[in-house]
Amino acid sequence: MNGKTQELRDPLLELRGIAKHYDMGETVVRALDGVDLKIWEGEFTAILGPSGSGKSTLMHLLGFLDQASGGEMYFDGENVSGIGPNQRAMIRADKIGFVFQTFNLLPRLSVLENVLLPTSYSRTPQLRVRDRARTALDRVGMADRAGHRPSQLSGGQRQRVAIARALMNEPRLILADEPTGNLDSTTARSILDLFKELNAQGGTVLIVTHDEKVARHTRRQIHVLDGRICKETTAQEDAVP
Ligand SMILES: Nc1ncnc2c1ncn2[C@@H]1O[C@H](COP(=O)(O)OP(=O)(O)OP(=O)(O)O)[C@@H](O)[C@H]1O
Ligand SMILES: [Mg+2]
Repeated sequence: MNGKTQELRDPLLELRGIAKHYDMGETVVRALDGVDLKIWEGEFTAILGPSGSGKSTLMHLLGFLDQASGGEMYFDGENVSGIGPNQRAMIRADKIGFVFQTFNLLPRLSVLENVLLPTSYSRTPQLRVRDRARTALDRVGMADRAGHRPSQLSGGQRQRVAIARALMNEPRLILADEPTGNLDSTTARSILDLFKELNAQGGTVLIVTHDEKVARHTRRQIHVLDGRICKETTAQEDAVP
């Protein structure tokens, strides 16, 4: 999306002067300290920075998992700074897909049942959601493993299932915290290729990582240091061979 098109539309998410402080009694931890950020629909972005810089804190705020202690946040042009936990939970369930380093699959459930989890409170008929789950598994190349348990899959396959689960509610934003942190480099590459493909199909994807090599796969890199955005870079897609 070029600059002109962006100006005509609201960003999907916008942070203005966002702070997240933890009062630890004698000290205050400034996990985020004045963050301004716009995320546009259709972007493929990395949040990059060393351990403790505030990446996960930022992701939790962007994913409506947590509330800022200061500043303003807008979703689709609407001010969502003051909303309560119930409203946050609704937006989260409806609009955000999460992917984690440790996959977070439930071991007793089959692949299909894991993917169905985000719809457990949905009123959509069973057959329709099952169809959607199979489509999601197909998109990540795991349709033939629907009946397996997570323990019967490789790390890369588990992450694919977790991504299928994140896609179930057709989220406006996919947030992934170190999604390749537990994978070898070849498998990591295939997961990054999958995110790239989802982005090419129109998905908005944001990856949190401390790894420059991972961030190089995305089109925009936001560098975080000591709770602030210290630099932003953009890469041409052809920068990664
Ligand atoms: N619940 C909390 N209470 C107090 N301090 C916290 C809390 N959560 C995070 N912090 C602090 O906020 C800072 C940012 O933490 P955060 O988890 O966002 O870092 P990160 O960049 O994700 O690091 P990593 O790469 O290790 O995952 C750290 O100094 C951390 O100790
Ligand atoms: Mg983290």
